[in-house]
Amino acid sequence: MADTISEAEAANRLMRLAKLIAHHDKLYHDQDAPEISDADYDALVRENRELEERFPQLVRADSPSKRLGAAPTTVLAKVTHARPMLSLENAFSEDEVADFSARIRRFLNLSPDAVVAMTAEPKIDGLSCSVRYERGELVLAATRGDGAVGEDVTPNVRTISDIPKRLSGAPDVLEVRGEVYMSKEDFEALNERQEASGGKIFANPRNAAAGSLRQKDASITAARPLRFLAHGWGEISEPLADSQFEAMKRIELLGIPVSELLVRCDDLTAMLAHYRAIEKARADLPFDIDGVVYKVDRLDLQERLGFVARAPRWALAHKFPAEKAETTLEAIDIQVGRTGKLTPVGRLTPVGVGGVIVANVTLHNRDEIQRLGLRIGDRVRIQRAGDVIPQVVENLTRDEVREPYVFPDHCPECQSEAVAEEGEVDVRCTGGLVCPAQRFERLRHFVSRGALDIEGLGEKSIAEFIELGWLHSPADIFRLRKLRDQLIGREGWKEKSVDNLLGSIEAKREPDGPRFLFGLGIRHIGIVTAKDLLKCFGTIEELRRVATSPDAHAELAAVEGVGPVVAEALVDFFHEEHNREALDDLLSEVRPKPFVTDAKQTEWTGKTIVFTGSLETMSRDEAKAQAERLGARAAGSVSVKTDLVVAGPGAGSKLKKAEELGIRVINEAEWAKIVAEA
Ligand code: IVH
Repeated sequence: MADTISEAEAANRLMRLAKLIAHHDKLYHDQDAPEISDADYDALVRENRELEERFPQLVRADSPSKRLGAAPTTVLAKVTHARPMLSLENAFSEDEVADFSARIRRFLNLSPDAVVAMTAEPKIDGLSCSVRYERGELVLAATRGDGAVGEDVTPNVRTISDIPKRLSGAPDVLEVRGEVYMSKEDFEALNERQEASGGKIFANPRNAAAGSLRQKDASITAARPLRFLAHGWGEISEPLADSQFEAMKRIELLGIPVSELLVRCDDLTAMLAHYRAIEKARADLPFDIDGVVYKVDRLDLQERLGFVARAPRWALAHKFPAEKAETTLEAIDIQVGRTGKLTPVGRLTPVGVGGVIVANVTLHNRDEIQRLGLRIGDRVRIQRAGDVIPQVVENLTRDEVREPYVFPDHCPECQSEAVAEEGEVDVRCTGGLVCPAQRFERLRHFVSRGALDIEGLGEKSIAEFIELGWLHSPADIFRLRKLRDQLIGREGWKEKSVDNLLGSIEAKREPDGPRFLFGLGIRHIGIVTAKDLLKCFGTIEELRRVATSPDAHAELAAVEGVGPVVAEALVDFFHEEHNREALDDLLSEVRPKPFVTDAKQTEWTGKTIVFTGSLETMSRDEAKAQAERLGARAAGSVSVKTDLVVAGPGAGSKLKKAEELGIRVINEAEWAKIVAEA
C-alpha cells in the first residue's frame, strides 16, 4: 500500500493512524482492556513508520513514533526515568533474526562469520518496571509509562515478595529492570474471586498484572499475587560485569529472580535452537510469554551499537506466531458501548487455542464482518495472538450459500436508530438520552463542569442513583427532590449533604443555553458549536424546529461555524423520537436561558433573512455576517418564518416563494443601506 499511495492519501492515513494507535495505547495501558491483537497493533505501528519514512515531511506533531507506549495516567505520581525505558524491535521469522545478526556485524564492521555471542531468554508478557536501590535500599519503583516518564508504584512494588526491599553487596545506585507478571494459575484464581465479588474480570494475566500494580491503594496490590523477573538494568553507579549474561547472574546473586531459561549462545543456530526449545516449553511454563529476546552479550559492543528511536540496536524480540484454530460461528451478538458504539461479538463453538478455550471473538465492526463475508454457521479460522482477545482471521466457507448477516440498524439496548457517519466504520446508537448502555456516561456529561455544572453530583452518586432506579434520563435529576427523605436514610448521606445536593440542582433550573445544549451530548456538539448554534437560533426549541424541518441539512450547515457533519449529527439526534421525548421531559423541568448575543439590539434582532441570487458588492458569507451583526439569522430557504429576502440577479424559486408568501423582498443596494444605517 505504501508504494502506491499519494501524498494526500498518506497525510490522511497518518492522521487516522495517529488516532487509532493512541486509542489502542489507551485501551492497553490505561484501561487494561485491549481491543486488538498485538500482531494487529504492531502492523499499525509498522504501517505508520513506513509511511513516515516515505514521507518525512508528513510526520505529525502527535505521531505515535514520538511516543513509547501510552503516556501515563494522572492518577499516580510521575517519575522521570534516570535512563529511558526502551522497547524492542520485533521479528516474526528466522530470516528476520538472521538479518538482525548480520546487521550487527555490519554495524560493528566485523566479518559476517565473526563470533558475536548473544543471550536468549523468554519474553515475558507482563509490564515492565524499574526498581531503584540506593545503598542497598529500595527507594523507588516506576512503570515504563511513555518510556521517559512513568508512574511511581513504590508502595505497590514493596508488596511483591520476589522483590527484596534491601540488597547486600549491590552498587550504590542500582536500577533493576524487569517484568511484573502474574502466573496463569494465579490469574485464573483471581478472576474467580473477582467474579464472586462482582469485581472487574481481566482479559489475560498481563492486564491483571497491570491492573493490580497500578493501584493508588497498595493494599489492593498486596492482595494480588504479583511476581517479578529481572531482564536488565537502568542507572548503575558501577558496572555489574562485562557481559549481559554475567550481569544478570550478578543480579540473581543479589536475590532478584532472573529467568531460568536465560542462556548464552555463540551463533545463530544456537539462538534459533533455544527459541524452539522455549516455544516447545511454552504451554507448560507457569506464566505467559510471547517470544524470545536476544541481546548482544558483550556490554562494550552494546554500548557501540546504541539505540535507534524506540529500541536498542543490540536486542531483538523474536515473537511466536499467533496460535490458530478452526471452529464454527454460531451467532453474532451486538454489544453497545458506553459511547453508543455497536460492537459485533462472534459466538463460537468453543475450541482450544494454545491452551485456552475460546468461545467469543470480537468482530470489531460492520466492515470487518463484510470483509470476511461472515454468515452465521460459517466455519472460521480464529487466532489468539499475544494473549489478547481472539479474532477471526479467515472465513473457510466463503462459497457456501447462506443468509447474509445483516448488521442491525437499530440499537439492541434501546431500539433507537443506529447509524454510521459518512467515512466512519463504527455504527452508533443515536438514542443518546435514553439508551441504558449510555446512561451513565450521558448523565455524567450532563452534570459535568463544562455542561450544567451541578456541584456535588459526582460519578459515585450518579452510579448509586442509577442502581436505585432513580435516574434514567437527565430530567430525573430535577425530580430527585421528591426522593429527599429516602435519600437521607441512605449510607453516606446526611440531611445536610442531601440538601446541599438538591440545592445545587435547583440552582440549575434555568441553565445557560449553550451549556445545556452541550450537555445533551449530541455527537460533534462541543461548547463552541453549541454557542454558534444558539447564537443563530436563540433557543433549543427553534434549533429543534429547524433540525426537524425538510431543509434541515442545508439550514444547519449554513450556520457560521457549523458544517455538514454537525448538521447530520443534529438531524440524527432530533430524528430519534426517544430523544425528542426525553428532551420534552427535560424541558418540562428546566428552562434554558435564551442566548444573548453581543450583537446590538436592532429592529432586525431575531429576524430571519434569506439571501438569494448573486450579490455584486459582497460575498454571501459577508452578507450573512452582516445579518448576524444586526442580530438576525441568515437562513438557507424561504418559509413563513422568513422576515426578509434579499434578492440579486438570477434569483429563482426562493424569490418566487417569497412573493407567494407576501414576504418583503429588497435588492442588494437596499440591504447595504439597512446595514449602513443600523
Ligand atoms: S529487554 C532495552 N527482555 O518487552 C531493552 N524486555 O516489547 C529493554 N520484556 O518493554 C527490554 N521480557 O517490558 C527485555 N526478557 C526480556 C523481556 C522484555 C519482556 C518486555 C519489556 C519491554 C517490552 C518490549
